[in-house]
Amino acid sequence: MHVFQPVELDDILEGAFRFGGDTWALLTAQKEDKVNSMTVAWGGIVYVWNKTCAVVFVRESRYTKEFIDASKRFSLSFLNKEEYKDVKNYMGTVSGRDENKIEKAGLTVNYHEDIPFIDEADNVIVCKVLYKQLMKEECCVNGRIIADHYRDGDYHYVYIAEIKQVMIR
Ligand SMILES: Cc1cc2nc3c(=O)[nH]c(=O)nc-3n(C[C@H](O)[C@H](O)[C@H](O)COP(=O)(O)O)c2cc1C
Repeated sequence: MHVFQPVELDDILEGAFRFGGDTWALLTAQKEDKVNSMTVAWGGIVYVWNKTCAVVFVRESRYTKEFIDASKRFSLSFLNKEEYKDVKNYMGTVSGRDENKIEKAGLTVNYHEDIPFIDEADNVIVCKVLYKQLMKEECCVNGRIIADHYRDGDYHYVYIAEIKQVMIR
């Protein structure tokens, strides 16, 4: 028999493959000539349809959702340095409907094959949307999920997106 050690999942998930906790990304997408970006903490990497994909959860109310749906492309830019903590909070509390967040946060837009990402990132995942689905009350097997996250009815859309490129600075 081999000896197995229990490990913390957080200790073995690294870089762009670790979501949650203090790891977060700026989800950035383009609609016509505008680019918008929002903080996301929920998500991950999955293997489905014989492809490695990113999954993200975007509430119906987010302005950025319009951008994802318009271009069917988005990027996830991971800014891991402590100095960007305030930027994360700003990009995750103010809506691009009200302010040009990227400009106000002092961030720079770069492009990979016409898909915008944040140049200040440590690593970037560039994605093409394959599937999206609105979460529904009746699909919540555990009622606590509704009580804890959807009392206002602002459900998440699940986006599964093929990873076209991973970039590390
Ligand atoms: C740390 C953090 C993580 C967040 N993660 C998500 C997320 O995974 N999904 C989501 O829909 N909103 C998330 N938000 C909220 C959005 O980033 C926030 O509502 C943002 O202002 C939306 O901007 P927009 O209206 O310009 O799209 C998060 C906010 C913070 C501060």
